[in-house]
Amino acid sequence: MGGATICILGGGGFIGNHLGRRLLSEGYRVRSVDRDDHRVRDLSDRAGFEFRRFDVRDEGRLAAAIHGCDVVAHLSSLCNPSLYTTRTLDTIGSNYTQALPVIAACREQGARLLHFSTCEVYGRTLAGFAPDDSSFRQDPANTLLSEESSPMLLGPLHRTRWSYAAAKQLLERTIEAEGRERGLSWTIVRPFNFIGPGMDFLPGVDGEGLPRVMACFASALIRGEPLPLVDGGRARRTFVHIDDAVDAIVRMIDRPGASAGRVFNVGHPENECDMAGLARLMIRAFEELTGRGFGPGVKEVVAEDFYGPGYEDCDRRVPDITRARTLLGWEPRIPLPEAVKRTLSAYLGTAGVLPA
Ligand code: UGA
Repeated sequence: MGGATICILGGGGFIGNHLGRRLLSEGYRVRSVDRDDHRVRDLSDRAGFEFRRFDVRDEGRLAAAIHGCDVVAHLSSLCNPSLYTTRTLDTIGSNYTQALPVIAACREQGARLLHFSTCEVYGRTLAGFAPDDSSFRQDPANTLLSEESSPMLLGPLHRTRWSYAAAKQLLERTIEAEGRERGLSWTIVRPFNFIGPGMDFLPGVDGEGLPRVMACFASALIRGEPLPLVDGGRARRTFVHIDDAVDAIVRMIDRPGASAGRVFNVGHPENECDMAGLARLMIRAFEELTGRGFGPGVKEVVAEDFYGPGYEDCDRRVPDITRARTLLGWEPRIPLPEAVKRTLSAYLGTAGVLPA
């Protein structure tokens, strides 16, 4: 599909930036929409690239930006767990209400919608409810998250962390219904912890607030403080490097026949670790990259002290990627230690610890 025009809503963000660069290198035209252009400023003179600065809530400018585009990649979303419990209405607004005009504009203008949802729609795993040593918990079938067969297990209302996943779920269901009842052409991506250069921000360096885990750990390493392990760091995640993830996304754009009307897990099932293990990997990478030892180690923090009331965690997220493998011929390749090292190296450049 090289030569087609792709509108990236949230094109200045972590994923949007990497996706836009890859699409440009493959001969696509990219129309990037965001309020913030700091990640993509160097692309301003690049042939085929256009940046439009506005808030996606501006429906007039949104419709104009989508006009003439073949595909709309919808990445604009508030997706940081520290905000789900503190700015719950904004979280629901950003992840549901504000996406409705995007769907309508794509349908009216005949653009394909490539919507970015989240692995968090699965919530907690069935296995997570079983005792630690039970055979039910050990059975991978009760852990692996599959697009068509896994249940979606969110927590109770007062656990406000789940408001994000609930909003994302309802939006997925709205998109599916728009396709079936009104002819919208769609594909849904469920990202499983994409990491890489430019993810989130370092508090006090290029942003404010509480970012996701990689940036929290990088920030602690740079400040020479212990890495905070929420509830002991037992939660598990799989991490996929952004270059692998973008490869899957470009294949979805390239192959509408395989991707239309489908939801895809995008993650690296072999790159799993608990957060204590991630901290160890990051400390090792920091020592290798800087050539100096790191003494402070880790510290345990209580989730509700760290995030405030209403937080509850996903226990484990291992994607079943059979569908992406089979229909897109996609295979994630970058192992976890390498992905962690590349990501940390970029943070060290941003903070001036290493040359940028
Ligand atoms: C978040 C979003 O909610 C998802 O929508 C998104 O898909 C996902 O990131 C992603 O990056 O793909 P989550 O994995 O919970 O989900 O985000 P993090 O804030 O990175 O937390 C990961 C784990 O690290 C959690 O168990 C958290 O409690 C822990 N953590 C976080 C620490 O132990 N220390 C910290 O300093 C920060």
